[in-house]
Amino acid sequence: MALEQRPVAKIDRAVIFLGPPGSGKGTQAKVLAGKAGVPHLSTGDMLREHIAQGTPLGLKAKPIMERGELVPDSLVLRMVAERIERPDCSQGFVFDGFPRTVTQAKYLGELLKRQGFRQPFVIHMVIGTALLIRRLTGRRTCKIGGEIYNIYDRPPKVEGICDNDGGELFQRPDDREEVIKPRLNAYEKLTAPLVSFYRRLGFLYEIDASKSVAEVEQEICQAVASMRGAR
Ligand code: AP5
Repeated sequence: MALEQRPVAKIDRAVIFLGPPGSGKGTQAKVLAGKAGVPHLSTGDMLREHIAQGTPLGLKAKPIMERGELVPDSLVLRMVAERIERPDCSQGFVFDGFPRTVTQAKYLGELLKRQGFRQPFVIHMVIGTALLIRRLTGRRTCKIGGEIYNIYDRPPKVEGICDNDGGELFQRPDDREEVIKPRLNAYEKLTAPLVSFYRRLGFLYEIDASKSVAEVEQEICQAVASMRGAR
């Protein structure tokens, strides 16, 4: 069977999607986790869930996220540590939007070592700024199942309605143009240094995230196939 047709087998470690806002981390992380049968762990989704439920963490995170800044490491780390201790994470998982600072990456490294996991595999989504802005301003998300659309490149069959479950589509508050710039700045300042951090450790695999969803998915499948068997 040709490499690109092979199904993705079980993931045996943490796979990390690293890339700027709008690069397609969520779109691809969900697909990969689904194919591999492991949890998709989006720290952005977890924080939005806390906000929706009005928890103390949600109350702290809400104004920070609305400004397009990063939520403090201490809050995010506690939330992640609790999540990956659950039994469904015992074989591996796919991170989307975590780690986002060098402090978070170092903490994750310790946590994975303590729990007996192999070294993580990092997929770096490489893409230019102009495309990011189009993707972020065009993104719409389903209120029920969380399916991600784009009014320019991946529209639903019926405007404003999810193809899968008929849920209403909404625009994330931080996808307003005035919040996109601070988010991109936060990425450049605090998260981009993780590229060289993971490259130095030899865990980084670069993907051209400007291609179509299907092409990017295929490149990721090939990258994950190369990961299997690696230490
Ligand atoms: P988070 O929810 O993680 O957002 P983000 O990193 O800014 O990333 P996005 O969700 O905006 O983009 P994406 O790369 O997932 O792209 P997507 O697949 O949706 O974080 C939100 C906030 O939470 C942060 O700002 C911060 O405040 C806080 N936070 C979260 N984690 C944190 C942490 N670890 N530490 C501290 N704070 C944290 O795609 C975007 C659009 O493009 C969609 O419309 C999609 O359909 C389209 N698209 C995707 N791929 C393609 C393609 N190949 N071709 C054409 N269109 C495509």
